[in-house]
This record gives sequence, C-alpha cells and structure tokens, in this order.
Amino acid sequence: MSVKSIFYITFFLLSLVLASEGHCDSHLNRQNIFTLNYPPDKTIMEFELLSISLKISQDSVDLISANVNDVEKIRIFPDSEFECFSIPLEIGTNRINLTAIKEDRLIGEIIFNVFRRSDLESKFKEPPAGFKKDYFHMKENSQCAPCHIMEPTGADKKSLQMIFSASENKAVVDASSSTCYSCHKRIIAYPFVHGPASVWSCLSCHDPQAEPKYSVKKPVTKICLSCHLEHMEKWNAKKYFHGPSNTGKCSICHNPHASENPSSLFKPIWDLCVSCHIDKGDGRHIVEGYVNTDSHPTHGKPDPLREGKELTCASCHNSHASDSPKLWRLDIETGIALCKECHRKPIKNIR
Ligand code: HEC
Ligand code: HEC
Ligand code: HEC
Ligand code: HEC
Ligand code: HEC
Ligand code: HEC
Ligand code: HEC
Ligand code: HEC
Repeated sequence: MSVKSIFYITFFLLSLVLASEGHCDSHLNRQNIFTLNYPPDKTIMEFELLSISLKISQDSVDLISANVNDVEKIRIFPDSEFECFSIPLEIGTNRINLTAIKEDRLIGEIIFNVFRRSDLESKFKEPPAGFKKDYFHMKENSQCAPCHIMEPTGADKKSLQMIFSASENKAVVDASSSTCYSCHKRIIAYPFVHGPASVWSCLSCHDPQAEPKYSVKKPVTKICLSCHLEHMEKWNAKKYFHGPSNTGKCSICHNPHASENPSSLFKPIWDLCVSCHIDKGDGRHIVEGYVNTDSHPTHGKPDPLREGKELTCASCHNSHASDSPKLWRLDIETGIALCKECHRKPIKNIR
C-alpha cells in the first residue's frame, strides 16, 4: 500500500468518525471548546438532581445539549464563560453525554458516568466497581466563588418557630436570601415540599461543621425526631414497629426535600411498598385465609375509609407502627375485624 493510499484511507476513516455524531469523544473537543468543572467521572449520587458546571471558550458554541442515557434532558444556549445547570438522574448508572454544536456541526463532546443509588431497588443499593462519592463541599471551589456565596450566612439559620409557622401559613419565603438557593434552587421544584426545605432551612439537617461538610447526622431518625416528636411518641407507644421505620431510615421512604408524591414519598405508596414486598401487589395475601377468591384490589379503587384517597397498602397497614402484628391500621386485633371496617355487608364465599 502506498503512503498516499494510507493517507486517503486515514482521511476517509476520520471523516466517517466525524460524521457519526455522538459516537466518539477523544477526537472531538480537542481545542478545549468546553471543559467540565463539575462533576468528576464516576461519582455516586443519592437523589434525582445532578448539578453540572461548564467552562466554555468565548463565542465558540451555539448550543449545548445534555443527554442522560441517550435521552436529551436540557438544551443550553451559552451566553457566558460559565454555564451552570442541573439535570435529572435515573436510578442506576447514568451515562451523561454533553455535545457542543456550532453552526449545526458537532464540535465537542464530553462523556461521563454518574451512579444514582437507591435503598428501594436491591439491584442499585451498591455502586458498580470504580464509582465513589465525591463531596463537592469538601473541595476548594474558588472557580465558583466569583459568582456564588460559598459559605452559609446568618440568613441560612432559621428558628423552629419560624419554620413551623411559615409552613403552616404557607408563607412565601424569600428563597434567594439562602446561600444554598443559587445552586440548589431546583431541589424543591416539586409539588410536595417538606416543611423545612420549603423555607430553605437547609441547615436544620445539614451541619456546616460536620465532616464531610454538610453531612446529616446518623441515624437520620434523630433528626426527624427533633421536629416530629409528637408522631414519634405516638409510634413508640405501639407494640410493633415496621422494620425500615425502626432502623433509623426514615429517608428510605421520605425524600427530606421534596417529591412528586404526597408526604414527599419517593414513590406513590403502592409502588413504594411493592419495591420491598414484591409478592404482595396482587392482593392474594389479603383474602387467602378468609375467602375463596384469588385476589383483592390493592390500588385503583376509592378507599371506603378515607374519603378522597385511593385504596392502597396504607388503607390497611400503618407504615410506621401499630398494636397489631401485621401492622394493621386502626390497631385491629383480627383480620376479620379489619374486613368489617370496609365491608359492612356480609362478604360472599367466606371460608
Ligand atoms: C460567571 C459566574 C458564575 C460562575 C463562575 C459559576 N456560576 Fe453557577 N450560576 C451562575 C448564575 C448567574 C446562575 C443562575 C443561572 C440562572 O439564573 O438560572 C448559576 C446557577 C448555578 C447552579 C444552578 C443551576 C440550575 O439551573 O439548577 C448551579 C448548580 C451552579 N451555578 C453551580 C456552580 C458551580 C459548581 C460553580 C463552580 C465550579 C459555578 N456555578 C460557577 C453564575 C456562575
Ligand atoms: C456554588 C454552588 C453551591 C452552593 C452555593 C451550595 N452548594 Fe451544595 N452542592 C453544590 C454541588 C455542585 C454539589 C454536588 C452535588 C450536586 O450535583 O448537586 C453540592 C452538594 C451538596 C451536598 C452533598 C454533599 C457534597 O458535598 O457533595 C449537600 C448536603 C449540599 N450541597 C448542601 C448545601 C447547603 C446546605 C448549601 C447552603 C448552605 C449549599 N449546598 C450551597 C453546589 C453548591
Ligand atoms: C429534614 C432534613 C433535611 C433538610 C431540611 C434538607 N436536607 Fe438535604 N439531605 C437530607 C438527607 C437525609 C440527605 C441524604 C444524604 C445523607 O443521608 O447524608 C440529604 C442530601 C442532600 C444532598 C445530596 C443529594 C445527593 O443526590 O447526593 C443535597 C445536595 C442536599 N441534601 C441539599 C439540601 C438543600 C439545598 C437543602 C435546603 C433546601 C436541604 N438539603 C435540606 C436531609 C435534609
Ligand atoms: C426542622 C424541623 C423538621 C425536621 C428536622 C423534619 N421535619 Fe418533617 N416537617 C416539618 C414541618 C414544619 C412540616 C410541615 C408541618 C407539619 O405537617 O407538621 C413537616 C412535615 C413532614 C411530613 C408530612 C408531609 C405531608 O405532606 O403530610 C413528613 C412525612 C415529614 N415531615 C417527614 C420528615 C422526615 C422523614 C424527617 C427526617 C428526615 C423530617 N420530617 C424532619 C419539620 C421538620
Ligand atoms: C425498604 C424496604 C421496605 C419498604 C419500602 C416497605 N417495607 Fe414493609 N417490611 C420491610 C421489612 C424488612 C419487614 C420485616 C421486618 C418487620 O417485621 O418489621 C417489613 C414488614 C412489613 C409488615 C409486617 C409483617 C409482619 O408479619 O408483621 C407489613 C404489614 C409491611 N411491612 C407493610 C408495608 C407497607 C404497607 C409498605 C409501604 C408503605 C412497606 N411495608 C414498605 C421492608 C420494607
Ligand atoms: C416504609 C416507608 C416509610 C418509612 C420507613 C417511614 N415512613 Fe413516614 N409515611 C409513609 C407513608 C406511606 C406515609 C403516608 C401514610 C398515608 O397516607 O396513609 C407516611 C406519612 C408520614 C407522616 C405524615 C403524618 C402521618 O402519620 O401520616 C410523617 C410525619 C412521617 N411519615 C414521618 C416519618 C418518620 C419520622 C419516619 C422515620 C421514623 C418515617 N416516616 C418512616 C411511609 C414511611
Ligand atoms: C384490604 C386490606 C389490605 C390491603 C389493601 C393490603 N393488605 Fe397486607 N395484609 C392484610 C391482611 C388482612 C394481612 C394478614 C394476612 C394473614 O392473615 O396472614 C396482611 C399481611 C401483610 C403482610 C405480612 C405478611 C406475612 O407474611 O405475615 C405484609 C408484608 C403486607 N400485608 C404487605 C402489604 C402490601 C405491600 C400491600 C400493598 C401492595 C398490602 N399489604 C395491602 C390486609 C391488606
Ligand atoms: C380498607 C378497606 C378494605 C378492607 C379493610 C377490606 N376490603 Fe375487601 N374490598 C375493598 C374494596 C374497595 C374492594 C373493591 C370493591 C369494588 O370493586 O368496588 C374490595 C373487594 C373485596 C372482594 C371482592 C369483591 C366483593 O365485594 O365480593 C372481596 C372478596 C373482599 N374485598 C374481601 C375482603 C376481606 C376478606 C377482607 C379482610 C381480610 C377485606 N376485603 C378487607 C376494600 C377493603
């Protein structure tokens, strides 16, 4: 093969690579059109939001598209040297792909991975090899300091009285007085927001003196107890506790910040319970011992006892504690007594 033909073949292959947008990172972005300040590759996250911070060389890019597992999540039209935004993560491994476009051409690409762990999915409790937690606030972040306040101020400390009265009265709080707001503003952008997060009292749970900085003291239950003493006292007086509520892990089920679901639960109640009790979704367990039927509804019907609510696992069970061994609501002694709460007329086919 002549030198010339090698040259042409190489040229041909290179143009193929450049044409096949999105499949190659090393050849692109050679002139550092944009660089990733945060996050590093292979970090572990707990919750849904990931912050991304980019440095972009002036006027070099028209559009940046951020994709998670090949689905576009956000488009940015850069107008400054720094671009900061956040994207939602899926549970498990997220392959994040940032592409830079100039005049309709792909001119740069950055690919990295983030793992979002979850106590509710046995497959995703532990990260794959090579992933580790990166503590943003433990690092020197002078790059961010020109535009963001990096240490909490007096305005971040809020009294319990203020928290309770503001959340009771649904008072509008000046969020921007919180130093956390400028970077974490999207953390409460959900329909159901937890009291202290709604008034940006982040330091109620996150200790700036802790190591790692802002970590939450464990067990988390103790933190919850500090404001929910009434609930906890009520539950502690019961005979039986639900495993996960009793092991200090209130935040297995409740997102401490905000969520799509009432009581800021990580999932709608039925899905939440079935994540751990996989075999209970069909309702067979409800009727098995009592009537000759194969199943009982566990969702999708109105709850006869709780007006306006859907029938779910929580219609019959208390998620925290109960005086009944099966954690029945209403602390009922026997299954039959439970049936009668909803079925006032005799049930057919009783065993
Ligand atoms: C040149 C100024 C500048 C610098 C430097 C800067 N930011 Fe920002 N950042 C901003 C502005 C302005 C906003 C608000 C943008 C808006 O209004 O949506 C912002 C917003 C954010 C957000 C919230 C984005 C969202 O929509 O959820 C995050 C996260 C963030 N910055 C992180 C960082 C980090 C981390 C650094 C340092 C590595 C940094 N920023 C450096 C100006 C800057
Ligand atoms: C300059 C932007 C910025 C400001 C201001 C900021 N954070 Fe963060 N914080 C981040 C980024 C980026 C991360 C990395 C995780 C992520 O992607 O959200 C983070 C992560 C965290 C974490 C997880 C642990 C860690 O270190 O990674 C906690 C907890 C936290 N922030 C709390 C706070 C609180 C409380 C405040 C206000 C007192 C605050 N942050 C202010 C940008 C900021
Ligand atoms: C009721 C307690 C509570 C409040 C209030 C609270 N957090 Fe958290 N936050 C937690 C817990 C619990 C975690 C889980 C991590 C842990 O256990 O250390 C967490 C984790 C985080 C993380 C890490 C997310 C991740 O994916 O790894 C960030 C960022 C964060 N909080 C920011 C904030 C900000 C900003 C506020 C104020 C709006 C706030 N938090 C208010 C309890 C709280
Ligand atoms: C700084 C005080 C404070 C801390 C700490 C705190 N909460 Fe709350 N919580 C509140 C306030 C205020 C409300 C809203 C008023 C109310 O319902 O009592 C609330 C409401 C709730 C609700 C009911 C939401 C609803 O829509 O019915 C749940 C669930 C909850 N908190 C769980 C937790 C969990 C779990 C923890 C621990 C991770 C925790 N809280 C820690 C203050 C706190
Ligand atoms: C994180 C996993 C997890 C989630 C989520 C979960 N559970 Fe459980 N549950 C357990 C474990 C572990 C046990 C066994 C330990 C015990 O008896 O408390 C248990 C026990 C129970 C029991 C009592 C069993 C008995 O024989 O006494 C009932 C009833 C129950 N769960 C109902 C629910 C309901 C309803 C939900 C949804 C609100 C739910 N669980 C969500 C882990 C979970
Ligand atoms: C197994 C999941 C699970 C765990 C763990 C859990 N909760 Fe809940 N919690 C729920 C569900 C489901 C509801 C909504 C109940 C309903 O609508 O019937 C709820 C409701 C609440 C409420 C609203 C008031 C009420 O009684 O309905 C508070 C407050 C609360 N939880 C606090 C806590 C605290 C504090 C802990 C830790 C000790 C905790 N939860 C642990 C599932 C859980
Ligand atoms: C209509 C009422 C009702 C509903 C709805 C209901 N359960 Fe039950 N559950 C019961 C009864 C009754 C028992 C006791 C059955 C028996 O006698 O063994 C029970 C027992 C259990 C047990 C203990 C099982 C054991 O082996 O000891 C678990 C765990 C449980 N339910 C979880 C769930 C979950 C998860 C859901 C939602 C998918 C749910 N239940 C929905 C009535 C209900
Ligand atoms: C929290 C309320 C609730 C409890 C407690 C309850 N059920 Fe039901 N049950 C329902 C609802 C709602 C339906 C669906 C009715 C419909 O289709 O409109 C239903 C349907 C049934 C059906 C099938 C339809 C029918 O009416 O013939 C049977 C059988 C049944 N239940 C038996 C039981 C037994 C046995 C128990 C006690 C172990 C029990 N249920 C406890 C709410 C409840």
